[in-house]
Amino acid sequence: MKDGLEGVVAARTRLSHVDGEAGRLILAGYAVEDLAPDAAFEEVAYLLLNGRLPGPAECAGFARDLAARRALPPAAVEVLRQAAAVRTPPMDALRMAAPLLSLGRAEDPLGDALTAIAAFPAIVGTYWRLRHGEAPAPIRRDLPHAAHYLHQLSGVEPSAERARALETYLNTVCDHGLNASTFTARVIVSTRSDVISAITGALGALKGPLHGGAPGPALDMVLEIGTPERAESVIRARLDRGERLMGFGHRVYRVRDPRADVLAAVAERFYANGGDRDLYRLARSVEAAALRLLRERKPDRRLDTNVEFYTALLLRGLGLPAELFTPTFAVARVLGWSAHCLEQLREGSLIRPQSIYAGPTGLPYQRTST
Ligand code: COA
Repeated sequence: MKDGLEGVVAARTRLSHVDGEAGRLILAGYAVEDLAPDAAFEEVAYLLLNGRLPGPAECAGFARDLAARRALPPAAVEVLRQAAAVRTPPMDALRMAAPLLSLGRAEDPLGDALTAIAAFPAIVGTYWRLRHGEAPAPIRRDLPHAAHYLHQLSGVEPSAERARALETYLNTVCDHGLNASTFTARVIVSTRSDVISAITGALGALKGPLHGGAPGPALDMVLEIGTPERAESVIRARLDRGERLMGFGHRVYRVRDPRADVLAAVAERFYANGGDRDLYRLARSVEAAALRLLRERKPDRRLDTNVEFYTALLLRGLGLPAELFTPTFAVARVLGWSAHCLEQLREGSLIRPQSIYAGPTGLPYQRTST
């Protein structure tokens, strides 16, 4: 048995297929590179929750339903206010506010899922503004989901180009097989617990740097390197110290993560249209040096660029600070968690693996005298 359940099949799903050998990601039948750059987030959400793309009227109705669920319960805003007062990291603030979405509502798997998907942008945006001494932006039902998230953060309606770039990001990372946070969510609802509990647990799993916490450190590394000429020496030194390079390697992909390509294309367009081109060029040099050195150090383990590297570059280009990278990942992935919860509730059974006992046996017990 391999540690970490590598290679173990723990669920059957129609939501996404990660082909690690071929470097392909299928979202409910569609290749990520075909679907993500053009589809509305609402269309992708409908697809994952219903198993097929919506017609125009269905999509409009679904978008209206989501938009009507954006407002936060006052108790959630109050928790965010208190979290801001003690400068809680945004991912923890999101994990504290998310369970309050069930306050005063009867448990309802689909309703809970839709509410969480709709309200996450408001939680992150409200928190971010409170942390910076600003009033929360008003909830706007007239904006599409991705544009509404940017509006919740900045209070300003984003340009179509910025909204599209974020929407492509949300679509690209909304689901990805049985990753650690999705597995967590499925385990929780497999006990017939509720969807909001599952989403709260999944947030905890996503926070770790080996899962959703990588893009911030990936950007830090690029910024620390500073100029393309330093890439080789800084990365070499990191590897000499036994450190992992954030934004590289993947448990499943043995070739380049296809999501990295989708996001690289968006980032390239975005930076070419007036962004910080030096930063883009620097990131490409860092990537090239990292791949060269990883191949040199680990010739028998193919370590390639993963989605987090280009997530960092794209979200930075959109003006998001590194602290918001993982919460923004959660704004996207809450869709996958929700769809997996509904599928697990419909078709799954209790997930309860076994462990191999590796401790001693037969120890003589002697009562400790007090
Ligand atoms: N930088 C340097 N070395 C790396 C590495 C990285 N990013 N990723 C893996 N390795 C090395 C490991 O140290 C290990 O070496 P060892 O056999 O000498 O101990 C070897 O490659 C195999 O790694 P392993 O831990 O088996 O890979 P995994 O499948 O368990 O881990 C990740 C996958 C994603 C956790 C791992 O690649 C990683 O830590 N990447 C950086 C974090 C990151 O970008 N996470 C986002 C994922 S989308």
